Amino acid sequence: MPGLPADAGRAKAGSIDPAGRTAYIAPMAKREILIIPDKRLRLKSEPIAAIDKSIRALVDDMFETMYEAPGIGLAAIQIGVAKRVVTMDLAKKDEPKAPQVFINPELTWKSEEKATYEEGCLSIPEYYEEVERPTGVKVKFLDLAGKPQEIEARGLLATCLQHEIDHINGVLFIDHISKLKRDMVLKKFKKAQKRGEPVKPLADDKVPSHHIG
Ligand code: NI
Repeated sequence: MPGLPADAGRAKAGSIDPAGRTAYIAPMAKREILIIPDKRLRLKSEPIAAIDKSIRALVDDMFETMYEAPGIGLAAIQIGVAKRVVTMDLAKKDEPKAPQVFINPELTWKSEEKATYEEGCLSIPEYYEEVERPTGVKVKFLDLAGKPQEIEARGLLATCLQHEIDHINGVLFIDHISKLKRDMVLKKFKKAQKRGEPVKPLADDKVPSHHIG
């Protein structure tokens, strides 16, 4: 009895689904979050040309990783993918989930009025510092269906959007604080990396409400 050909189950070249049917059943996966001083966090991410199933799979993985962390926002580069994709969910613990996806997000306006907000970042665990940013912004982006959208945001959403758009440009929230404080944080994380000690994120019950991502 002849065995199955080596390419059994794989789609033939030129068929509708060249990646093969297994692509549809790939489960969501929690991915590792990059921690400073990982140099990839300084990359400028590439725009998305087409929202295909690989991008939808990336978004699924980002939500899985963000909820698990837990964080309220995540940029793709934080899981090592230099693409301009941001996920967010600002719902409080007792509220239903409110996932939001921003593809190729771009600031089109920022208010002159500024406010200070204590920020944290999943790539800089256990460190929080006050950052001054515009209180309101307008952001244009593509939704997951590829439709152009523009929103005006204030408060936490405005802060979070600026924090995540910074990420896809290789900028971290510690770039907005004093050099003295930034150098102290970088030194702490470089030391931990040298010793091979993981810098553990806060336990779930200790995560403050201002945790950003
Ligand atoms: Ni962050």
